[in-house]
Amino acid sequence: MTPDRASTARDVLTFYVAAGVDVALSETANDYLSAPQPAAAAPVAAAPAPTRTLARNQDAPPRAAAPAAAPPAVPEAAVMAAREAARSAASLEDLRAILGAFDGCALKATATQLVFADGTPKSRLMFVGEAPGYEEDKSGLAFVGRSGQLLDRMLAAIGLDRSKVYIANIVPWRPPGNRTPTPVETQICLPFIQRQIELSDPDILVTIGQPSTGALLNVQGITKNRGRWFSYQTGTREIRAMPMLHPAYLLRTPIAKRMAWRDMLALKKALGT
Ligand code: URA
Repeated sequence: MTPDRASTARDVLTFYVAAGVDVALSETANDYLSAPQPAAAAPVAAAPAPTRTLARNQDAPPRAAAPAAAPPAVPEAAVMAAREAARSAASLEDLRAILGAFDGCALKATATQLVFADGTPKSRLMFVGEAPGYEEDKSGLAFVGRSGQLLDRMLAAIGLDRSKVYIANIVPWRPPGNRTPTPVETQICLPFIQRQIELSDPDILVTIGQPSTGALLNVQGITKNRGRWFSYQTGTREIRAMPMLHPAYLLRTPIAKRMAWRDMLALKKALGT
């Protein structure tokens, strides 16, 4: 192989690994070639209206919707087990250990390690993102990749750093290939992040991106709702909460940084710093 072709082959392999090719997605192999093929050029009755879908860490452009399939049932037993396990944690250290031993979420099997948090527990300000990516999975710390580095610069702009904030994710294990966590995975992990917020007890909660905003605040539409104040019940008290645009989205959409800057200033004001 010529050096050029070797480096192209290496790049392709790196891409496949980043996309999760080394990760088993089900217990048994799927033979897609022998599966029945859809009838060719079958006429489509009524095309469903396009809907807006959110891709991982971003406001994705509208896509044509596939015919609606019934959402997979949330396994109640796993959610109940998660609730009970989360409730039993008396401290953040406890919670980390309990989460590390929890086998109810399939993502644990494909991730390298648990990504519990980064920053400083009990800070007045807590950020919650969606799920760890490649860099977080490697390091075990939340928001350390490109998104995290932008988050650091945003914090620095209002005089903060990781010694003054606490950062976690809705889902603490990296989904294969950085895909969006499924609603089932999110529901199973939700009791843990809720308990993590309660135990860290921030004055202000910032939900980063739509998945976190939807899961914690039950608010849909990140572009419309970013920078607005909501209330969040931690379990012991009511605190203020604000959705913000995900740094991954800001990296791809620099024009949106001016909205993020306004939100950072609002946070600074709310903290009285
Ligand atoms: N994106 C997230 O939502 N969380 C991380 O920890 C990293 C990237």
